[in-house]
Amino acid sequence: MTDQLTFTVIKADCGSPGGHTQPSKRMIDEVERLISGESWVMDHKITHTGDDIAILATHNLGTSSSTVHKACRAGFDAAAEIAKEEGNYGAGQDLLATAPSGNVRGTGPGVAEFTFELLPEHRPAESIAVFAADKCGPGAYNMALYQAFADPSRSSGFLLSPDVGKGFKFLIEDMDFKAEPGDPTHRLIELNSPEENIDILTLLRQIDRYGVARIYSRAYPDEIAVAVSTDRLHNITGVYQGKDDPVMVIRNQKMFPAVEEIIDPFRLTPLITGDARGSHTMPLMPVPINTAVAGAYCLPIVSCLAFSVNGQGKFSENGVDIFGNLAWDRYRAQAQERADWMRQQAPFGVAMASQEEISYTGLAERQAALEKRFKPITEETRD
Ligand code: 13P
Ligand code: MG
Ligand code: MG
Repeated sequence: MTDQLTFTVIKADCGSPGGHTQPSKRMIDEVERLISGESWVMDHKITHTGDDIAILATHNLGTSSSTVHKACRAGFDAAAEIAKEEGNYGAGQDLLATAPSGNVRGTGPGVAEFTFELLPEHRPAESIAVFAADKCGPGAYNMALYQAFADPSRSSGFLLSPDVGKGFKFLIEDMDFKAEPGDPTHRLIELNSPEENIDILTLLRQIDRYGVARIYSRAYPDEIAVAVSTDRLHNITGVYQGKDDPVMVIRNQKMFPAVEEIIDPFRLTPLITGDARGSHTMPLMPVPINTAVAGAYCLPIVSCLAFSVNGQGKFSENGVDIFGNLAWDRYRAQAQERADWMRQQAPFGVAMASQEEISYTGLAERQAALEKRFKPITEETRD
Protein backbone atom coordinates (compact mmCIF):
# COMPACT_ATOMS: atom_id res chain seq x y z
CA MET A 1 0.00 0.00 0.00
CA THR A 2 1.24 3.45 -0.81
CA ASP A 3 1.62 5.96 1.97
CA GLN A 4 -0.92 8.64 2.66
CA LEU A 5 0.47 12.05 3.48
CA THR A 6 -1.45 14.83 5.19
CA PHE A 7 -0.53 18.44 4.54
CA THR A 8 -1.87 20.78 7.21
CA VAL A 9 -1.87 24.58 7.28
CA ILE A 10 -3.32 26.24 10.38
CA LYS A 11 -3.15 29.96 10.96
CA ALA A 12 -4.08 32.30 13.79
CA ASP A 13 -3.66 35.92 14.77
CA CYS A 14 -2.06 35.72 18.21
CA GLY A 15 -1.32 39.44 18.58
CA SER A 16 1.15 41.92 17.14
CA PRO A 17 3.16 44.99 18.14
CA GLY A 18 1.91 48.42 17.08
CA GLY A 19 -1.53 47.42 15.76
CA HIS A 20 -2.46 44.58 13.39
CA THR A 21 1.04 44.44 11.84
CA GLN A 22 3.05 41.24 12.31
CA PRO A 23 3.90 38.81 15.12
CA SER A 24 7.05 39.54 17.11
CA LYS A 25 10.16 37.41 16.57
CA ARG A 26 9.83 35.85 20.02
CA MET A 27 6.29 34.73 19.20
CA ILE A 28 7.36 33.08 15.94
CA ASP A 29 10.41 31.48 17.60
CA GLU A 30 8.22 29.96 20.30
CA VAL A 31 5.82 28.41 17.77
CA GLU A 32 8.85 27.07 15.87
CA ARG A 33 10.33 25.60 19.08
CA LEU A 34 7.10 23.86 20.06
CA ILE A 35 6.17 22.48 16.63
CA SER A 36 9.70 21.27 15.85
CA GLY A 37 9.59 19.28 19.11
CA GLU A 38 6.46 17.33 18.07
CA SER A 39 7.14 13.67 17.21
CA TRP A 40 4.41 13.48 14.52
CA VAL A 41 5.94 16.24 12.38
CA MET A 42 7.59 14.94 9.20
CA ASP A 43 8.48 18.47 8.14
CA HIS A 44 7.21 21.93 8.95
CA LYS A 45 7.60 25.63 8.36
CA ILE A 46 6.38 28.62 10.33
CA THR A 47 5.60 31.78 8.36
CA HIS A 48 3.56 34.89 8.87
CA THR A 49 1.52 37.05 6.54
CA GLY A 50 0.74 40.33 8.24
CA ASP A 51 -0.33 39.55 11.81
CA ASP A 52 -1.29 35.91 11.15
CA ILE A 53 1.10 33.08 12.05
CA ALA A 54 0.82 30.03 9.75
CA ILE A 55 1.99 26.55 10.75
CA LEU A 56 2.68 24.35 7.70
CA ALA A 57 3.28 20.68 8.49
CA THR A 58 3.40 17.26 6.86
CA HIS A 59 2.46 14.15 8.86
CA ASN A 60 0.52 10.91 8.58
CA LEU A 61 -2.17 11.44 11.21
CA GLY A 62 -4.87 12.48 8.68
CA THR A 63 -7.03 15.60 8.54
CA SER A 64 -8.74 16.92 11.69
CA SER A 65 -6.27 15.01 13.85
CA SER A 66 -6.70 16.09 17.47
CA THR A 67 -2.97 15.51 18.07
CA VAL A 68 -2.01 17.88 15.26
CA HIS A 69 -4.67 20.49 16.01
CA LYS A 70 -3.95 20.47 19.77
CA ALA A 71 -0.23 20.97 19.14
CA CYS A 72 -0.92 23.90 16.78
CA ARG A 73 -3.33 25.44 19.28
CA ALA A 74 -0.73 25.04 22.04
CA GLY A 75 1.81 26.79 19.80
CA PHE A 76 -0.60 29.68 19.20
CA ASP A 77 -1.53 29.87 22.90
CA ALA A 78 2.16 30.14 23.79
CA ALA A 79 2.62 32.89 21.16
CA ALA A 80 -0.40 34.73 22.61
CA GLU A 81 1.14 34.53 26.11
CA ILE A 82 4.29 36.17 24.77
CA ALA A 83 2.15 38.77 22.99
CA LYS A 84 0.53 39.57 26.37
CA GLU A 85 3.91 39.85 28.10
CA GLU A 86 5.16 42.14 25.37
CA GLY A 87 1.99 44.23 25.55
CA ASN A 88 1.19 43.52 21.91
CA TYR A 89 -2.10 44.46 20.35
CA GLY A 90 -4.89 41.86 20.07
CA ALA A 91 -3.04 39.17 22.07
CA GLY A 92 -4.84 35.88 21.36
CA GLN A 93 -7.21 37.59 18.90
CA ASP A 94 -8.18 34.46 16.92
CA LEU A 95 -7.99 32.02 19.85
CA LEU A 96 -11.65 32.13 20.77
CA ALA A 97 -13.39 29.00 22.04
CA THR A 98 -11.42 26.05 23.32
CA ALA A 99 -12.08 22.78 21.52
CA PRO A 100 -12.84 19.81 23.78
CA SER A 101 -12.32 17.42 20.84
CA GLY A 102 -9.01 19.06 20.00
CA ASN A 103 -10.15 20.00 16.47
CA VAL A 104 -9.59 23.75 16.16
CA ARG A 105 -12.13 24.23 13.35
CA GLY A 106 -14.84 26.61 14.49
CA THR A 107 -12.76 27.91 17.41
CA GLY A 108 -10.99 30.80 15.65
CA PRO A 109 -7.86 29.54 13.85
CA GLY A 110 -8.18 28.93 10.08
CA VAL A 111 -7.53 25.38 8.79
CA ALA A 112 -6.67 24.19 5.26
CA GLU A 113 -5.55 20.58 5.05
CA PHE A 114 -5.81 17.49 2.88
CA THR A 115 -4.62 13.91 2.69
CA PHE A 116 -3.34 12.31 -0.51
CA GLU A 117 -1.40 9.32 -1.72
CA LEU A 118 2.27 10.23 -1.76
CA LEU A 119 4.00 9.77 -5.12
CA PRO A 120 1.76 7.18 -6.83
CA GLU A 121 2.75 6.05 -10.34
CA HIS A 122 0.60 8.69 -12.06
CA ARG A 123 2.17 11.48 -9.98
CA PRO A 124 5.92 11.04 -9.66
CA ALA A 125 6.54 14.44 -8.02
CA GLU A 126 4.50 16.38 -5.47
CA SER A 127 4.40 20.14 -5.96
CA ILE A 128 2.61 22.36 -3.44
CA ALA A 129 1.75 26.05 -3.11
CA VAL A 130 0.60 27.58 0.17
CA PHE A 131 -1.25 30.89 0.10
CA ALA A 132 -1.90 33.04 3.15
CA ALA A 133 -3.87 36.29 3.17
CA ASP A 134 -4.25 39.04 5.75
CA LYS A 135 -6.96 41.71 6.13
CA CYS A 136 -9.17 39.57 3.90
CA GLY A 137 -12.64 38.03 3.94
CA PRO A 138 -12.93 34.27 3.32
CA GLY A 139 -13.81 34.54 -0.38
CA ALA A 140 -10.54 36.29 -1.21
CA TYR A 141 -9.42 33.35 -3.38
CA ASN A 142 -12.74 32.77 -5.19
CA MET A 143 -11.87 34.60 -8.39
CA ALA A 144 -8.39 33.10 -8.67
CA LEU A 145 -9.71 29.57 -8.09
CA TYR A 146 -12.45 30.00 -10.66
CA GLN A 147 -10.05 31.30 -13.28
CA ALA A 148 -7.39 28.66 -12.66
CA PHE A 149 -9.65 25.61 -12.14
CA ALA A 150 -12.74 26.39 -14.24
CA ASP A 151 -11.96 28.88 -16.98
CA PRO A 152 -10.32 27.42 -20.12
CA SER A 153 -10.15 30.87 -21.67
CA ARG A 154 -7.73 32.00 -18.96
CA SER A 155 -5.93 28.80 -17.94
CA SER A 156 -4.44 27.13 -21.01
CA GLY A 157 -3.84 23.89 -19.13
CA PHE A 158 -7.42 23.03 -20.11
CA LEU A 159 -6.38 23.08 -23.77
CA LEU A 160 -2.90 21.67 -23.41
CA SER A 161 -3.35 18.88 -20.85
CA PRO A 162 -5.98 16.17 -21.40
CA ASP A 163 -6.14 15.56 -17.61
CA VAL A 164 -6.75 19.22 -16.75
CA GLY A 165 -9.18 19.35 -19.70
CA LYS A 166 -11.48 16.84 -17.95
CA GLY A 167 -12.29 19.57 -15.44
CA PHE A 168 -12.62 19.75 -11.66
CA LYS A 169 -15.17 19.11 -8.95
CA PHE A 170 -15.75 22.16 -6.71
CA LEU A 171 -16.97 21.77 -3.11
CA ILE A 172 -18.37 25.18 -2.23
CA GLU A 173 -19.25 26.13 1.31
CA ASP A 174 -22.06 28.46 2.36
CA MET A 175 -20.33 30.08 5.31
CA ASP A 176 -23.33 32.08 6.50
CA PHE A 177 -26.17 29.60 6.31
CA LYS A 178 -28.80 30.43 8.93
CA ALA A 179 -30.40 27.21 10.17
CA GLU A 180 -33.78 28.46 11.34
CA PRO A 181 -34.13 29.27 14.14
CA GLY A 182 -30.71 28.14 15.33
CA ASP A 183 -27.26 29.63 15.10
CA PRO A 184 -25.49 30.18 11.82
CA THR A 185 -23.90 27.05 10.51
CA HIS A 186 -22.18 25.97 7.31
CA ARG A 187 -23.46 23.84 4.42
CA LEU A 188 -21.78 22.41 1.34
CA ILE A 189 -22.61 21.92 -2.35
CA GLU A 190 -20.74 19.88 -4.98
CA LEU A 191 -20.58 21.33 -8.51
CA ASN A 192 -18.79 19.97 -11.56
CA SER A 193 -16.77 22.19 -13.87
CA PRO A 194 -17.04 22.89 -16.78
CA GLU A 195 -20.72 21.89 -17.22
CA GLU A 196 -21.85 23.72 -14.07
CA ASN A 197 -19.57 26.73 -14.44
CA ILE A 198 -22.45 29.20 -14.41
CA ASP A 199 -23.72 27.72 -11.12
CA ILE A 200 -20.19 27.85 -9.73
CA LEU A 201 -19.91 31.51 -10.74
CA THR A 202 -23.34 32.30 -9.31
CA LEU A 203 -22.08 31.28 -5.87
CA LEU A 204 -18.40 32.24 -6.00
CA ARG A 205 -19.09 35.81 -7.09
CA GLN A 206 -20.63 36.29 -3.61
CA ILE A 207 -17.28 36.48 -1.89
CA ASP A 208 -18.59 37.24 1.59
CA ARG A 209 -20.82 34.21 1.80
CA TYR A 210 -19.57 31.39 -0.42
CA GLY A 211 -16.05 30.03 -0.53
CA VAL A 212 -14.32 27.08 -2.12
CA ALA A 213 -13.68 24.47 0.56
CA ARG A 214 -12.01 21.85 -1.68
CA ILE A 215 -11.40 21.05 -5.37
CA TYR A 216 -10.86 17.55 -6.83
CA SER A 217 -9.53 16.34 -10.19
CA ARG A 218 -12.07 14.70 -12.50
CA ALA A 219 -9.39 12.82 -14.41
CA TYR A 220 -8.36 11.16 -11.10
CA PRO A 221 -11.42 11.59 -8.83
CA ASP A 222 -9.54 10.61 -5.64
CA GLU A 223 -6.96 13.30 -6.17
CA ILE A 224 -7.54 16.50 -4.24
CA ALA A 225 -6.10 19.71 -5.62
CA VAL A 226 -7.17 22.45 -3.23
CA ALA A 227 -8.16 22.99 0.41
CA VAL A 228 -9.11 26.42 1.76
CA SER A 229 -10.02 27.60 5.24
CA THR A 230 -13.66 28.67 5.44
CA ASP A 231 -13.86 29.94 8.98
CA ARG A 232 -15.88 33.05 9.80
CA LEU A 233 -14.84 34.67 13.04
CA HIS A 234 -18.03 36.72 13.36
CA ASN A 235 -20.06 33.49 13.37
CA ILE A 236 -18.20 32.46 16.50
CA THR A 237 -18.25 35.78 18.32
CA GLY A 238 -21.37 37.44 16.86
CA VAL A 239 -19.36 40.66 16.53
CA TYR A 240 -16.42 41.87 14.48
CA GLN A 241 -13.22 40.88 16.20
CA GLY A 242 -10.76 40.58 13.31
CA LYS A 243 -10.94 39.38 9.74
CA ASP A 244 -10.99 35.76 8.62
CA ASP A 245 -7.70 35.95 6.70
CA PRO A 246 -7.94 32.61 4.83
CA VAL A 247 -5.13 30.14 4.13
CA MET A 248 -5.09 27.79 1.15
CA VAL A 249 -3.00 24.82 0.05
CA ILE A 250 -2.86 23.73 -3.61
CA ARG A 251 -1.28 20.69 -5.25
CA ASN A 252 -0.21 21.77 -8.72
CA GLN A 253 1.34 20.51 -12.00
CA LYS A 254 0.64 17.31 -13.94
CA MET A 255 -3.13 16.53 -13.57
CA PHE A 256 -3.66 19.92 -11.89
CA PRO A 257 -3.15 23.45 -13.22
CA ALA A 258 0.50 24.55 -13.25
CA VAL A 259 1.66 26.99 -10.60
CA GLU A 260 1.86 29.78 -13.22
CA GLU A 261 -1.81 29.22 -14.08
CA ILE A 262 -2.77 29.36 -10.42
CA ILE A 263 -0.89 32.57 -9.62
CA ASP A 264 -1.84 34.38 -12.85
CA PRO A 265 -5.23 35.70 -11.59
CA PHE A 266 -3.47 37.47 -8.71
CA ARG A 267 -2.09 39.92 -11.31
CA LEU A 268 -5.58 41.39 -11.41
CA THR A 269 -5.35 42.46 -7.73
CA PRO A 270 -9.07 41.66 -7.29
CA LEU A 271 -11.26 43.89 -5.14
CA ILE A 272 -12.18 41.95 -2.03
CA THR A 273 -13.66 42.56 1.41
CA GLY A 274 -11.18 43.37 4.14
CA ASP A 275 -8.80 46.23 4.86
CA ALA A 276 -9.14 48.52 7.90
CA ARG A 277 -11.54 47.07 10.49
CA GLY A 278 -12.37 44.39 7.93
CA SER A 279 -15.01 46.72 6.60
CA HIS A 280 -13.93 47.91 3.16
CA THR A 281 -13.65 46.80 -0.44
CA MET A 282 -10.03 47.00 -1.49
CA PRO A 283 -7.58 45.38 -3.96
CA LEU A 284 -5.58 42.32 -2.91
CA MET A 285 -1.84 43.07 -3.05
CA PRO A 286 0.54 40.13 -3.70
CA VAL A 287 3.47 40.32 -1.23
CA PRO A 288 6.51 38.25 -0.17
CA ILE A 289 6.05 35.80 2.70
CA ASN A 290 6.68 37.24 6.17
CA THR A 291 5.51 40.73 5.17
CA ALA A 292 4.26 43.14 7.85
CA VAL A 293 1.07 45.10 7.28
CA ALA A 294 2.35 48.66 7.07
CA GLY A 295 0.56 49.85 3.95
CA ALA A 296 -2.03 52.58 3.83
CA TYR A 297 -5.31 51.61 5.47
CA CYS A 298 -4.35 47.94 6.08
CA LEU A 299 -4.48 47.02 2.41
CA PRO A 300 -5.35 43.30 1.98
CA ILE A 301 -2.26 41.20 1.20
CA VAL A 302 -1.59 37.67 -0.02
CA SER A 303 1.61 35.57 -0.01
CA CYS A 304 2.48 32.36 -1.85
CA LEU A 305 5.18 29.84 -0.99
CA ALA A 306 5.83 27.10 -3.56
CA PHE A 307 7.89 23.98 -2.89
CA SER A 308 7.99 20.23 -3.37
CA VAL A 309 7.53 17.35 -0.95
CA ASN A 310 9.60 14.17 -1.25
CA GLY A 311 8.76 10.53 -0.48
CA GLN A 312 9.51 11.08 3.23
CA GLY A 313 7.17 14.08 3.45
CA LYS A 314 10.14 16.47 3.63
CA PHE A 315 9.94 19.90 2.00
CA SER A 316 12.44 20.75 -0.72
CA GLU A 317 15.24 22.80 0.75
CA ASN A 318 14.61 25.93 -1.28
CA GLY A 319 10.98 26.91 -1.45
CA VAL A 320 10.14 29.78 -3.79
CA ASP A 321 8.62 32.94 -2.40
CA ILE A 322 6.48 33.48 -5.50
CA PHE A 323 5.17 37.00 -4.92
CA GLY A 324 8.58 38.04 -3.57
CA ASN A 325 9.87 38.03 -7.15
CA LEU A 326 10.38 41.41 -8.83
CA ALA A 327 7.86 40.40 -11.52
CA TRP A 328 5.20 41.21 -8.93
CA ASP A 329 6.43 44.74 -8.15
CA ARG A 330 4.25 46.26 -10.85
CA TYR A 331 1.16 44.48 -9.51
CA ARG A 332 1.92 45.79 -6.04
CA ALA A 333 2.02 49.29 -7.57
CA GLN A 334 -1.22 48.52 -9.43
CA ALA A 335 -2.91 47.41 -6.19
CA GLN A 336 -1.79 50.59 -4.44
CA GLU A 337 -3.13 52.72 -7.28
CA ARG A 338 -6.50 50.95 -7.18
CA ALA A 339 -6.50 51.36 -3.39
CA ASP A 340 -5.91 55.10 -3.70
CA TRP A 341 -8.97 55.32 -5.94
CA MET A 342 -11.14 53.36 -3.52
CA ARG A 343 -10.00 55.40 -0.54
CA GLN A 344 -11.16 58.60 -2.18
CA GLN A 345 -14.78 57.55 -1.83
CA ALA A 346 -14.98 55.33 1.26
CA PRO A 347 -17.32 55.01 3.13
CA PHE A 348 -19.68 55.75 0.24
CA GLY A 349 -21.22 52.92 -1.77
CA VAL A 350 -19.16 49.91 -2.73
CA ALA A 351 -15.92 51.29 -1.27
CA MET A 352 -17.17 50.11 2.12
CA ALA A 353 -18.05 46.43 2.68
CA SER A 354 -21.62 45.23 2.13
CA GLN A 355 -24.30 46.00 4.72
CA GLU A 356 -24.43 42.31 5.77
CA GLU A 357 -20.69 42.28 6.35
CA ILE A 358 -20.54 45.43 8.44
CA SER A 359 -23.65 44.45 10.42
CA TYR A 360 -21.23 42.83 12.90
CA THR A 361 -19.51 46.17 13.59
CA GLY A 362 -20.39 49.23 15.69
CA LEU A 363 -22.20 50.62 12.69
CA ALA A 364 -25.07 48.21 13.41
CA GLU A 365 -25.79 49.97 16.74
CA ARG A 366 -25.74 53.37 15.11
CA GLN A 367 -28.14 52.20 12.40
CA ALA A 368 -30.45 50.63 15.02
CA ALA A 369 -30.51 53.90 17.00
CA LEU A 370 -31.35 55.84 13.83
CA GLU A 371 -34.17 53.43 12.96
CA LYS A 372 -36.05 54.64 16.05
CA ARG A 373 -35.84 58.25 14.93
CA PHE A 374 -37.35 57.73 11.46
CA LYS A 375 -40.91 59.02 11.07
CA PRO A 376 -43.29 57.75 8.39
CA ILE A 377 -44.15 60.24 5.67
CA THR A 378 -47.92 60.67 5.31
CA GLU A 379 -50.06 63.07 3.33
CA GLU A 380 -50.34 65.24 6.50
CA THR A 381 -46.64 65.38 7.34
CA ARG A 382 -45.38 65.79 3.77
CA ASP A 383 -44.36 69.41 3.05
P1 13P B 1 -6.79 41.35 11.47
O1 13P B 1 -8.01 40.54 11.20
O2 13P B 1 -5.68 41.03 10.55
O3 13P B 1 -6.40 41.23 12.91
O4 13P B 1 -7.12 42.88 11.20
C1 13P B 1 -8.12 43.44 11.92
C2 13P B 1 -8.39 44.85 11.64
O5 13P B 1 -9.48 45.28 12.04
C3 13P B 1 -7.45 45.71 10.92
O6 13P B 1 -7.90 47.04 10.82
MG1 MG C 1 -4.99 41.29 14.19
MG1 MG D 1 -4.82 39.14 10.29
